[in-house]
Amino acid sequence: MSPREFSRRRRQIMRMIGKGSVALLPAAPAKVRNRDVEYYYRQDSDFYYLTGFAEPEAVLVLAPGRAAGEVLMFCRDRDLERETWDGARAGPEGVVADFGADDAFPITDMDDILPGIIEQCERVYYNIGMHTEFDQRLIGWVAALRERGGAHTPDEFIGLDHLLHDLRLFKSRPEITKLRRAAKIAVTAHNRAMSLCRPGLHEYEIEAEFIHEFRRQGARLSYLPIVGSGPNSCVLHYHANDRRMEDGDLLLVDAGCEFGYYASDVTRTYPVNGRFTPEQRAIYDIVLEAQTAAFDQIAPGNHWNDAHVAAVRVITLGLRAIGLLKGNLRTLIRTGAYRPFFMHRTGHWLGMDVHDVGDYKVSDHWRLLERGMALTVEPGIYIAPGTRGVPKRWWGIGVRIEDDVVVTTEGHELLTDGLPRTADEVEAAVGSRAS
Ligand code: GLY
Ligand code: MN
Ligand code: MN
Repeated sequence: MSPREFSRRRRQIMRMIGKGSVALLPAAPAKVRNRDVEYYYRQDSDFYYLTGFAEPEAVLVLAPGRAAGEVLMFCRDRDLERETWDGARAGPEGVVADFGADDAFPITDMDDILPGIIEQCERVYYNIGMHTEFDQRLIGWVAALRERGGAHTPDEFIGLDHLLHDLRLFKSRPEITKLRRAAKIAVTAHNRAMSLCRPGLHEYEIEAEFIHEFRRQGARLSYLPIVGSGPNSCVLHYHANDRRMEDGDLLLVDAGCEFGYYASDVTRTYPVNGRFTPEQRAIYDIVLEAQTAAFDQIAPGNHWNDAHVAAVRVITLGLRAIGLLKGNLRTLIRTGAYRPFFMHRTGHWLGMDVHDVGDYKVSDHWRLLERGMALTVEPGIYIAPGTRGVPKRWWGIGVRIEDDVVVTTEGHELLTDGLPRTADEVEAAVGSRAS
């Protein structure tokens, strides 16, 4: 992403909030995993979207129209001793030189400088409740200004996410390039895992293929992978990934990567031994048809919800055809009779965050799809073992098929092209390289 792209985004936000406003965006805090071990540091998506700056302990301040500089940053000072341990820091000079700030200061000076900037503004744009430590500091500064008497305090405190997340919802060309790459890497990894799959392996051996492929292509996991075989295919957020996969099991693999801060989110479901049972195939074919029907709805001018409505209809019809639901189609849909088997939505926005930001409704109406929006298409059917009223032969079948798309002028581009989708394609791919 070029510095110009970050600068363009900051200008857009500044135009939206206008003169007399200040926007405050803190970097993500570093987090301890256990004792003195930290989690891998990942910058806050909003902060990164506007800065391209990946260090912790930083705050971006946007003050449109401010004569002494509109784009200010607080960041860690250079410290050769600390840099020996933790790696290079940009420092305030580096932030001005390389990240487009008009001015930058050590984060340790923030208490002295930032209240004076806030004092001159009518409106503060800040997302309260996301960074509790910064929330407290901001409240402290405002309280101190009030106590001082004679000091001006802003009239309004406004959330920034509405404006910023609407910008993030529409992906620019360089962003789509990143999404395409993240999707391609996930496709390679899924193909790799599928080709090596066979009974007797453990779920974590499949997970390992993803980590291997992601890292060798410079990507990381965009979320904890779900590698659920047999009954685990019906556990929506299954992460243990430690079961031995048996002959006859289905395997549901939901694994995506993050490349250059952009995520992919991909699921494939396949028989561990390369042959669907008739019941597994029947469910698979319903989900596949639901996904195809959902894809058909993804085009500019359609509502966000149209794909879900289409998927619900196909799934309800399919479950009725195999005898798991009984009754009038419209009633079954209206009463949500499909929900014990399909309990999530057909997709979500996709971007820097895997469940990306952006409103799904605008003043109570489903949003219209527009060019540049990226989303997942992921219908599923899950029949948990022990499901009452369902014959045993259907138990333990969980199927989801998940792909990533971006809305284009004509319809949509399938970012996750190149993965087996139909039951026949899947059967041909599974175990093709297993020894
Ligand atoms: N991997 C989470 C989801 O599919 O939404
Ligand atoms: Mn998803
Ligand atoms: Mn997923």
